[in-house]
Amino acid sequence: MVIEDIKAGIKGDIGREIFFYETVGSTNTIAAGLAEKGEAEGVVVIADSQERGRGRLGRFWVSPPGVNIYMSIILRPEIEPKDATLITIMAAVGCTSALRRLTGLNVTIKWPNDLMVSDKKIGGILTETKTAHKRIIYAITGIGINVNMDQDAFPEDIKEVATSVKMETGIPHSRTEIIIEILNAIDYWYRILKEMRRRMLLSEWQYLTSTLGRKVRVTVGKETFTGLAESIDDEGMLILRLPSGVLQKISAGDLTILR
Ligand code: BTN
Repeated sequence: MVIEDIKAGIKGDIGREIFFYETVGSTNTIAAGLAEKGEAEGVVVIADSQERGRGRLGRFWVSPPGVNIYMSIILRPEIEPKDATLITIMAAVGCTSALRRLTGLNVTIKWPNDLMVSDKKIGGILTETKTAHKRIIYAITGIGINVNMDQDAFPEDIKEVATSVKMETGIPHSRTEIIIEILNAIDYWYRILKEMRRRMLLSEWQYLTSTLGRKVRVTVGKETFTGLAESIDDEGMLILRLPSGVLQKISAGDLTILR
């Protein structure tokens, strides 16, 4: 992975400046530190490995060196904190369309943040925000993509549910090319989010998702809901139709597709 090559492929504002590290705790933490110091929107942190890679819901993100993508983008969108899910939706759309174009794989989005290929997880997005007075001061969108990881390298407990670009296509892929494609796609979709063309973003998400129309189980804290994933609303919340017929809105949770 050569940072100069990545920079040469960047077309927009996202990734114009890149901080690269061999190893970090978490690129999200590094990016948040840079944002605190006033680094601008579009600055990207990339690491070859992470010692404390974070997933959603306090989970660990497996981040060995030399094989995968771990990167975080500083964003400063002028949207309300209640709309923060849209940032993850935007990044998921960017990553999915970039991966589809480059690899030919049928990558789909599992609400809210999982990138899937044939029901296995190939990547994930973790957006963390700092807010004050109903404004987002900054958002850090962290992206992890399993690129050249072999099945044996995954820990036992996720071996059956995780996959990589190499495992699915049978050939190794250039991390540099994938990073360029993702950052350019995010530049495009982020502009659409900022222009508040929400319907365009949400309809692209609906086209790329594998969650809608499926029977799902969602765990939200101590509560579990089972129902039909019917749609997402303007804020990116999932709308479930419960067996009683009642519609339940869910802002964040752990989702399992039942069939
Ligand atoms: C998830 O699916 O739970 C989200 C995973 C996000 C992982 C990425 S890797 C780069 C960035 N740094 C982190 O510590 N996490 C995100």
